[in-house]
Amino acid sequence: MNYKIALLKGDGIGPEIVDEAVKVLDKIGEKFGHKFEYTQGYLGGESIDKYGIPYSKETAKICKESDSILLGSVGGPKWDNVEPDKRPEKGLLAIRKDLGVYTNLRPAVLFKQLKSASPLKDEIIGEGLDVMIVRELTGGIYFGPREYSDEKAVDTLPYTKGEIERIAKKAFEIAKLRGKKITSVDKHNVLDTSKLWRKTVNELAKNYPEVEVSHMYVDNAAMQLIANPRQFDVILTDNMFGDILSDEASMLTGSLGMLPSASLGDGKVGLYEPSHGSAPDIAGQNIANPIATILSAAMMLRYAFNLTKEADAIEKAIAEVLEDGFRTADIYTDGLKKVGTKEMGNEIVKRIQF
Ligand code: NAD
Ligand code: IPM
Ligand code: MN
Repeated sequence: MNYKIALLKGDGIGPEIVDEAVKVLDKIGEKFGHKFEYTQGYLGGESIDKYGIPYSKETAKICKESDSILLGSVGGPKWDNVEPDKRPEKGLLAIRKDLGVYTNLRPAVLFKQLKSASPLKDEIIGEGLDVMIVRELTGGIYFGPREYSDEKAVDTLPYTKGEIERIAKKAFEIAKLRGKKITSVDKHNVLDTSKLWRKTVNELAKNYPEVEVSHMYVDNAAMQLIANPRQFDVILTDNMFGDILSDEASMLTGSLGMLPSASLGDGKVGLYEPSHGSAPDIAGQNIANPIATILSAAMMLRYAFNLTKEADAIEKAIAEVLEDGFRTADIYTDGLKKVGTKEMGNEIVKRIQF
């Protein structure tokens, strides 16, 4: 079959890592008899340079006419001084809002071959780590009314019951297919939005008796993720808490460079993007880890196109590459084979099997 994919390579390491994911998709196409057709759009800094704004009508059109979107990452020092509403990151928020992708799935899964790359002790890792973060993505403090003057600045954190209900439903549906356990993370002891969050989650829980629900304050959750990560199955949380906890959870997998993500709406085109940023400190050096992006492409095959075997083939190839000792710098430990971004992509491509 033919699939139309919009590519938004973005800034910093974005183009380097997206190119590797495209190589892997093309190999999947060849082995499994699919054709992936790519159309390039522009987001973030590269869009500011081209159109003067971080998310343009042209790119929106390309995305909406595609079956799915693969995104690298946006931002960088070059655009640090543009006015706040035109920053690269605003483009990312705008495209998420425009596409209505309110569910952000960030699966923190430790490949057993990377145990030594994880800063956690063996006894904490145990048999392995597999936590699914379900982050609300189009509401909360990122999108609330704000004001700014040199004397006073205000950000606000609004959530409607409807917004909480729809993301919580997703978390319940996902938990049903996994370990049947949700930890809903909030700041119920301080925030009114958290009160509504907790009440709504508890109401919904009645429809899912097979799923065990507990609640945790976000400060405690940050600590528990390191102290006892195996207690978690699905973490359900709001936009900002999810942003912070997912970077933290990435270290359970050995590196931020291993954490993929899928941003999904209801029946609309989804956005597949690594959880990390544009890493300006290592951009252009062929040292970034492309695996988070390649795993995001696998999520695309699984969720957008229902190509389960193909997604499995990518994950298996990555496991084999790690088993064979290939490591980018971020996951390197002594005695293994250090490779660059391109070489890592090539090694994965070589191992894709029908
Ligand atoms: P970052 O995620 O870009 O980098 C944090 C650290 O992790 C850096 O040391 C970086 O080198 C490392 N890192 C990140 N991805 C890596 C990879 N694939 N392989 C190896 N190492 C990797 O976060 P930051 O430095 O705080 O932000 C840089 C820019 O990225 C900022 O402009 C920020 O706004 C933007 N950003 C964009 C996204 C996105 O597009 N989704 C996400 C986060 C940050
Ligand atoms: C992420 C990023 C973005 C976010 C920024 C760049 C707007 O950190 O995707 O995690 O906070 O959502
Ligand atoms: Mn983030």
